[in-house]
Amino acid sequence: MEKKADKKIGTESYKGVRDFYPQDMFVQNYIFGVMRKAVESFGYGEYGASILEPADLYRAKTGDEIVNEQTYSFKDRGDREVTLRPEMTPTVARMVAAKKREFSFPLRWYSIPNLFRYEQPQKGRLREHWQLNADIFGVESIEAEIEMISIAHAIMKAFGLKDSDYEIRVNDRKIMNYILEDFLSLSPSESHNVSKIIDKKDKMSREDFAEKISSVVSEKSDNLLTLLHSKNLEEFINLLPEKARAHKGVLEIKELMKKLAGFGIKNVVFSPTLMRGFDYYTGIVFEIFDTNPENRRAIFGGGRYDDLLSIFGAEKIPAVGFGMGDVTTRDVLQTYDLLPKYKPATELYLCVLDEKYRNYANKLAQSLREDGLNVAIDFSGKKVGDQIKYADKNLIPFVICVGENEAKNEEFKVKNLKSGEEKVLNIKEIAQFLLGNSVSK
Ligand code: HAM
Repeated sequence: MEKKADKKIGTESYKGVRDFYPQDMFVQNYIFGVMRKAVESFGYGEYGASILEPADLYRAKTGDEIVNEQTYSFKDRGDREVTLRPEMTPTVARMVAAKKREFSFPLRWYSIPNLFRYEQPQKGRLREHWQLNADIFGVESIEAEIEMISIAHAIMKAFGLKDSDYEIRVNDRKIMNYILEDFLSLSPSESHNVSKIIDKKDKMSREDFAEKISSVVSEKSDNLLTLLHSKNLEEFINLLPEKARAHKGVLEIKELMKKLAGFGIKNVVFSPTLMRGFDYYTGIVFEIFDTNPENRRAIFGGGRYDDLLSIFGAEKIPAVGFGMGDVTTRDVLQTYDLLPKYKPATELYLCVLDEKYRNYANKLAQSLREDGLNVAIDFSGKKVGDQIKYADKNLIPFVICVGENEAKNEEFKVKNLKSGEEKVLNIKEIAQFLLGNSVSK
């Protein structure tokens, strides 16, 4: 048998998760920064929680596919069943239910957690992703949905995306429940099965979809398929029986689209096949879809979930929220060439002309750091040309070479590596010059 010590360990990461090298981290921080700024501008405050949750938390309402096929669950040493969170909504609902007497509502909260789902890794789908979650608790009216979709729209705009680059798909669980249970008179279990088939529509051909639907709905399947294939809200409403045209869900969707258009959000489309996989949604659901054929994935998904808090024995608290994933966001930004160019945090590199000036360079660096600059020192002992090349290759914008003259006169030639310009400054002037210069630009 191979001895333990001889076995080489591979350098690749676990399947479906990512390592973030500094360039990747830079993009990640940029994405999170834009998300944070946008949600905070709407008055949302940040919360956090552990990655570990009791497995029971997801059994009630998260939905069979995620719970049975996609969770990472294990027993801890005390025989408790633990799950790595596959989504944040049950956690935030638990947190709100736990302290609801202490809060005054509405609550506007956000978080950017990492989530784990045992998926087949593919474009836009990984086993670990980060997800901005924004949720509002305590608002029954449609203003909550309008706010959520407005935030989603504001984030897309802040990333530089145009309305024509994506569409906001909306539907209402109330309409779907009416159609499946009242209009088509399906039993609750048939209606649940049909919802799951509709949810997977984009993953199959039109023929397969029709076949699957008719296997559950039989003679009523033509009616249902015609409704599901309707091109817009008007066409859909016209296919409904007269009395259903004023159904609460229909009126809600109409009002939502009208109000959003009034706020200048016009890329909203009614999508009767938008189901959203979670069992906790109770009303309007929405997704933001990239219209580019290269990224046929939702970037955001969310909706209203008025009953979720009652699983904790708490009285109902109306809630609306969404999740926006970092993987799909990065893909979209890449497609539209909107990713930022990498810039290291280091602003200044000190080249050391001779080992005997290392101490001096260290003290200089220390003093400049106290002035607010990010400074790295070269310890290589290589030729000055090579030291400067290192700074250039690592995209550090400025260098100072430290040698006999600098140590004696306390005057420094600050070189801008991009423009080649040099400026002689004393120690007090350096930080001010760099911070006011292209370092921050
Ligand atoms: P979700 O639709 O499962 O919703 O996820 C929201 C977004 O997260 C998706 O549109 C997608 O961008 C991203 N996402 C989901 N799974 C993966 C994955 N395996 N790899 C990469 N990205 C992924 C929820 O999770 C709801 N809890 C959102 C919510 C918050 N509803 C109300 N409040």
